[in-house]
Amino acid sequence: MGWIYRNCLQPLLFFQESEAAHNRVIGGLSWAGRLPFVPMLTDTMYGAPDLPVSLSGLRFPNPIGLAAGMDKHATAVPMWERLGFGFAELGGVTKHAQPGNDAPRMFRAINDRALINRMGFNNPGAEAVAQALRQWRARDQWPAHPIGINLGKSKITPLEEAAEDYAFSFRTLQGLADFFVVNVSSPNTPNLRQLQDRSALDEILKTLRAVDSMTPLLIKIAPDLTYEAIDDVLELATVHSLAGIVATNTTIERPESSDAQCRATYEQTGGLSGAPLRARSTKVIAHIYQHTEGQLPIIGVGGIFTAADAWEKITAGASLLQVYTGLVYEGPAIAGDIVRGLKARMEQEGVRSLADVIGQS
Ligand SMILES: Cc1cc2nc3c(=O)[nH]c(=O)nc-3n(C[C@H](O)[C@H](O)[C@H](O)COP(=O)(O)O)c2cc1C
Repeated sequence: MGWIYRNCLQPLLFFQESEAAHNRVIGGLSWAGRLPFVPMLTDTMYGAPDLPVSLSGLRFPNPIGLAAGMDKHATAVPMWERLGFGFAELGGVTKHAQPGNDAPRMFRAINDRALINRMGFNNPGAEAVAQALRQWRARDQWPAHPIGINLGKSKITPLEEAAEDYAFSFRTLQGLADFFVVNVSSPNTPNLRQLQDRSALDEILKTLRAVDSMTPLLIKIAPDLTYEAIDDVLELATVHSLAGIVATNTTIERPESSDAQCRATYEQTGGLSGAPLRARSTKVIAHIYQHTEGQLPIIGVGGIFTAADAWEKITAGASLLQVYTGLVYEGPAIAGDIVRGLKARMEQEGVRSLADVIGQS
């Protein structure tokens, strides 16, 4: 399946401007999700075997999730499980609807299997996303896997009022997701990453906890934080009883590249994702796991393309994983392929449960 995508569909998509191709794919999935039989057919072609993970009282059919940013409008909700994903994080969602930055704002560094994006939280706002989710529920098309929502800050809201902006979206979307992720790590909203500072983050988490102290809440961090700054976040995570850390978002760093097209792409402003992010995000995961002695669950994300990449992140300390750029380069078979690869690796290593290998590298 992956071969068909890489050799037939991907060249057609890569012929188009990056965001236009993305919108076509999401539009197609949204349409397909509404048709009878298509979701079932997709399941037959791309579904993943079971490799269940339990975390925060939730059951994930497998550990491979869809990363935030792919389905910002919650338009393809029933399709992610049909494509073999064990969970999906929708959004980023902000209080106010906003168009995001000017296009073009998504770029491929093809030979390095990377993307640069400066989308800037283009989304229809918390109320519209809540409405979309209610519709999937009303149509009886709610997925069997957990749904997460990624919360961002509206561009027009000043940093000092960030806590209330997040809280508005949280309240509006309450009951429509199994977990929420506070995103203070996107490089594409001016100064957003300052909210990773201790006092700002403390206020946001306190405000959100006052809204609802039961729904699992996680925080997503940038790969560019120093270990000291990460440790501050970890302390707050304990104070506010967070369910875990999502590590990591895109990086503002740029790798060396021998490829001229990639070097030109790296001149673009924005966050880098994909293969060049893999090692850094794994290091951050390993640090969190060691610092917390494995007590705080980690969702590992950054440069996962294969079962070997997934194994690397699990053995570094991640309990669950997510992909974005891998889906763009490997295609719709990626989740199923990784889950099958993980099962084969477990058999080869004589491991009965994934929980036995978390953090064991
Ligand atoms: C176009 C694009 C949009 C994204 N939007 C969001 C977002 O809204 N919120 C968020 O937390 N992360 C967002 N991300 C980051 C991804 O969720 C993920 O953390 C990052 O891309 C690293 O994973 P990857 O290497 O598998 O892509 C976005 C990434 C891309 C490429």
